[in-house]
Amino acid sequence: MNQAHIVGTGSSMPERVLSNKDMERIVDTTDEWITRRSGIRERRISSTGRKESTADMATKASLEALKMADLPAKTLDMMVVGTVTPDRQFPSAACMVQKELGAVNAFAFDVSAGCAGFLYALATVNNAIKCGMCQTALVVGVERLSSVVNWQDRSTAVLLADGAGAVVVQARPDPGGILSTHLKSDGTAWELLHSSYGNTFTPEILQGLDQKPFFLKMEGNKVFKRAVRCLSEVSREALEHNGLSSDDIGLVVPHQANIRIIQDLAGNLGIPMDRVLINIQKYGNTSSGTIPIALHEANREGRLKKGSQVLMVSFGAGLTWAATLLTWTM
Ligand code: ACO
Repeated sequence: MNQAHIVGTGSSMPERVLSNKDMERIVDTTDEWITRRSGIRERRISSTGRKESTADMATKASLEALKMADLPAKTLDMMVVGTVTPDRQFPSAACMVQKELGAVNAFAFDVSAGCAGFLYALATVNNAIKCGMCQTALVVGVERLSSVVNWQDRSTAVLLADGAGAVVVQARPDPGGILSTHLKSDGTAWELLHSSYGNTFTPEILQGLDQKPFFLKMEGNKVFKRAVRCLSEVSREALEHNGLSSDDIGLVVPHQANIRIIQDLAGNLGIPMDRVLINIQKYGNTSSGTIPIALHEANREGRLKKGSQVLMVSFGAGLTWAATLLTWTM
């Protein structure tokens, strides 16, 4: 049976930088609070004028990943985009990216799994490769959260941001690549983190009001505690499944939601922070985007050694959470 190997990575961040000082002019907050409570110092916010829509960012990240893989877009036979902020309800962001890339031989669709969207998409591709359904796939995590953030809500506006990351995954008979994927959901707790408007559901209270009806709402403190517990549990499950211990992990690439969540996770797993990729200070929380953006950064900086074990782990709206263990083979 073939294994799924990552053969290219890429990312695309909007040009506009919004610092914590800038946030002080938008909501009642301070640079000190944001840095201390979340680890974020600045974030990137997209602009349509600069061609930074969800599909634009996803396309740029994909082109970079394809270039690194040295593969033309026509080689792709499957494309999955993890996102909760596609430019349109339909067609999918994946089909828009397919058009831009000229990936005429691929089938393409989106996966909606909150911040775990990229790992859900990667698991889908892994299974498609294992069962012989595809040979070369593109997996993207992209978000334009600035369009669903309530810019008057300081408890969420300071955290969320825009950006895209992508990987090219190829079927190869060689050992390594993706070892296992672990996906979890708990719909009973959906209200802890949700959009207050849906395409088939308009709350009566909002009808007729001159207000953007699709704001994101989050009970941050409750989400925080669940995130630490679920991320730790699913990481341990992935390690045990592969007969590995924390000492075997070369690099953890966690979802970048809050530096304190990541520190608690690393503490629970007994993994020192120098083996954990952190870039939340530069980019904030880009939901589905955080892991592929961080993975590309680690790849560019030479932090992914051939043969080393990489743990990717995420938690978000749904609630959803997931872990993926892989042996880096690039
Ligand atoms: N500036 C200043 N004060 C603030 C801000 C702000 N930006 N935001 C909240 N506060 C205040 C609150 O009003 C509160 O004040 P009070 O004590 O007078 O009531 C105080 O700070 C503490 O608020 P908490 O919410 O308890 O602060 P907490 O330490 O929990 O930090 C945070 C909040 C950063 C949101 C944290 O809970 C968190 O990171 N939660 C998890 C986020 C996450 O993982 N989300 C999942 C993925 S996101 C996605 O899927 C899109």
